[in-house]
Amino acid sequence: NQEIISLDEITQFQSPTEEFNPYEWYKHKLQHEPVSYHEATDTWNVFRYNDVKRVLSDYEHFTSVRTRTTISVGADNDEGKHMGKFNLMTDPPDHRKSRSLLATAFTPRSLKLWEPRIQKTVNELIAKISEAEVIDVVKDFATALPTIVISDLLGVPSQDRNLFQQWVNDLFLPIPKENTEDVQALKRRAAKEYYNYLYPHIVNKRARPSDDIISDLIKAEVDGEQLSDDEIVRATMFILGAGIETTSHLLASTFYSFLYDNDQIYAEIQANQALLPNTVEEMLRYRFNIAKMDRTVKQDNNLLGVDLKKGDVVVVWMSAANMDEEVFDNPFTLDIHRPNNKQHLTFGNGPHFCLGAPLARLEATLGIGLFMDTFSKIEPVPGFKLEDNLTPSAAGQTLSTLPVRVYK
Ligand code: HEM
Repeated sequence: NQEIISLDEITQFQSPTEEFNPYEWYKHKLQHEPVSYHEATDTWNVFRYNDVKRVLSDYEHFTSVRTRTTISVGADNDEGKHMGKFNLMTDPPDHRKSRSLLATAFTPRSLKLWEPRIQKTVNELIAKISEAEVIDVVKDFATALPTIVISDLLGVPSQDRNLFQQWVNDLFLPIPKENTEDVQALKRRAAKEYYNYLYPHIVNKRARPSDDIISDLIKAEVDGEQLSDDEIVRATMFILGAGIETTSHLLASTFYSFLYDNDQIYAEIQANQALLPNTVEEMLRYRFNIAKMDRTVKQDNNLLGVDLKKGDVVVVWMSAANMDEEVFDNPFTLDIHRPNNKQHLTFGNGPHFCLGAPLARLEATLGIGLFMDTFSKIEPVPGFKLEDNLTPSAAGQTLSTLPVRVYK
């Protein structure tokens, strides 16, 4: 079993708002403690760009096979063992097989095939809110879009999507310091319900395959091996965990930035939608406080300028590395014209680089694009208090609501 390391203990943020805007902390760490040991959690914390990139990609020294981790998605019962355990937690060459099997569902061909379906989902979601004056952009858009897209791509009937949402919420709950057992019990229940729901669905798909992730996973074959029904359930649970909360977070924080970080951007992109892809990259660079990962030292080394011993846990803060002035000019400024923002490390680096990156980018550009075509202007709703509208998740502080006044 794995021990979950609490990131809160490392950061010691005083409020949810501080965690949502952790820039001062990053600045301090980058300048003064770029590689530092944290005693209470017994972890090394790494902040600078080149160091973070090195740890993520150098699997000979920093392994993904680990017993202590910061990732708390999933549950500790049998049904909760998702494929991340066999994929995220492995190194090459073992990792190659599970990655290749998963990758069959994320080829450029699949993406082309899915684009009209994603566009349809976007159209339906925006049509639903197009007559409103005030919307909750988190609930109505940022959470809804990735949840519907993934459940549609898994081939799940639309009436069951709320169930999906609830399972994702529960499986993503952070493990608190107190009431740990209550949260674990919720996660176990969600994992069991999910498993029991999806298993027969896969058996049916085997008989009647179509164009969706499950059918791709059924067909996938590497070195003569295929995934069993059980493994496919676990693979989809991993995909849910990897693909929903992350993309919701990206969309929600983009709208937060449009409203509160720089209120000129919305109009600027609207006048020139060619700026949208670069804006999405900048958002991934600028506010993705869930972007951190961990590795375990595989062999003693001094690669980061300190003595690291086999078995030490290294937490890499990609979100801080994205603010390293060695790589990004004026890193703390949100700049949608930044020429090199695609160098951000939010999708990771090396053998585990995010398989869903093209899908996340596509959802964001199609979604925000149509939103802008539909609403000529957006405004904040007076009285909104960030502090009261953040919620902890395994991914860090995320917006629970974001009211927006929209104009056609
Ligand atoms: C891996 C981030 C969206 C599927 C990763 C990793 C990161 C990441 C940092 C690497 C983990 C590591 O190094 O151990 C993100 C972000 C997203 C996003 C920031 C959205 C903004 C998605 C989506 C999917 C997805 C939409 C699929 C539907 C995966 C998979 C892996 C992965 C399957 C594992 C790859 C491997 O271990 O070889 N993601 N992700 N992700 N992501 Fe994403």
